[in-house]
Amino acid sequence: MRFPSILVSPALTIPKAELEHMERTGLLMGRFYDWMRQNNLLPIHAPPPRDALCRAAAVHDIGKALIPAAILNKPGKLTPAEFEVIKEHTHRGIGLLRQQNKSDSVMLAVCRHHHERWDGSGYPDELSGKSIPYPARLMAVVDVYDALTHERPYKGAYSKDAALQIIRQGCGTQFDPAIGGAFLNLME
Ligand SMILES: [Fe+2]
Repeated sequence: MRFPSILVSPALTIPKAELEHMERTGLLMGRFYDWMRQNNLLPIHAPPPRDALCRAAAVHDIGKALIPAAILNKPGKLTPAEFEVIKEHTHRGIGLLRQQNKSDSVMLAVCRHHHERWDGSGYPDELSGKSIPYPARLMAVVDVYDALTHERPYKGAYSKDAALQIIRQGCGTQFDPAIGGAFLNLME
């Protein structure tokens, strides 16, 4: 899954590490989806289309193109004010996708809601449980796993085991426990 060229324009710059993260999550989403399907774990009624999910994953952080690089690349801990700016990437991503006029409902849901948490303490809308769109609940797990296992300006890469332990601890608080559990089964 390559980063969709429709979303790359000279007016948009996004750090390479962010682009690579999105590209990897597009691939991992496909792998997770296939495993869920083989194990009959996808919703029986109207599971999201695989292609739409992978495309959505590959652009989920596109709004970071409109966040100052100095904040995205800050090596240390963000101030509360800086974190508020980072949180804007969900809304800004939606704006970009709508401008492109090539998005779909899965893409918009993933872009807007991938930082919601199962317990309702996420952003931007503080949705909880199954009120979080299913594709965004899948994205939350795939996103965090990839972010943890790769280096970022503000942290080193966690081992696979350490990342899976964090996913395990987040089941039922950060993540849909059924989806988090399925991901652990795939990766372990
Ligand atoms: Fe994000």
